[in-house]
Amino acid sequence: MLPAPAEKRAAVTAMFDRIAARYDLVNRVMTLGLDRSWRRAAVAALGLRPAERVLDLGCGTGDLAIEAAAGGLRVVGVDLSAGMLGVAGRRAALAWVRGDAAALPLVAGSLRGILSGFALRNFSDLGAVLAECARVLEPGGRLALLEVDEPRSRVLALGHRLYFRRLVPWLGGALSDRDAYRYLPESVVYLPAEAELRGLLERAGFEAVAKRGFCGGVAQLITARRAAGGRA
Ligand SMILES: C[S@@+](CC[C@H](N)C(=O)[O-])C[C@H]1O[C@@H](n2cnc3c(N)ncnc32)[C@H](O)[C@@H]1O
Repeated sequence: MLPAPAEKRAAVTAMFDRIAARYDLVNRVMTLGLDRSWRRAAVAALGLRPAERVLDLGCGTGDLAIEAAAGGLRVVGVDLSAGMLGVAGRRAALAWVRGDAAALPLVAGSLRGILSGFALRNFSDLGAVLAECARVLEPGGRLALLEVDEPRSRVLALGHRLYFRRLVPWLGGALSDRDAYRYLPESVVYLPAEAELRGLLERAGFEAVAKRGFCGGVAQLITARRAAGGRA
């Protein structure tokens, strides 16, 4: 089901192109709309002032970027999928750019903040992506990464497994594309464990790494600050 490493970038792009039209609908149904409050929390965690420049990395159809722009931030959204960017462009007149998170078309030190929603496990080389994040952020710039997570409590973990591994693929199949929504739970294997992710962030040049969970641990928000002296 999961693509071979060398094919992941192309396979992920093609998959998001395929599901772009119904992506927002499936997201709202799957999370019962809870993702909206997680996105608000991610934007608030940046702690930035209006008119400061932020990137929505792997912006997809633009939910995080639109939330950040509503708060007065100047946002650029970058994504590999032309299909997802097409939907984003119809939703809001922001700067939507087709590009790879591992080679951002942005000037070094040009941003105050970076947001990313549920994109980490889709990247082919997370270390390279985090190094790019460090490059384009100015020293002291903030990072806020939303991702799925697995609850610690055994009871919640069991319920979550049934939901994520059975209901989500069924729901995704009924509303959109069964293979894509089978990939979604399977792609969790690409997510590094907490300590490993902290290490990757620190090696890329981030400090003050912190994690916050939502809804008993079904989603997580990782925050960090770009260290003043570059790579740790
Ligand atoms: C699960 S979607 C998340 C979309 C959006 N951020 C959200 O919160 O709903 C993951 C997105 O990451 C994008 N993506 C995957 N690999 C990428 C890469 N290397 N560079 C830029 N975008 C990428 C996909 O095209 C897709 O739109």
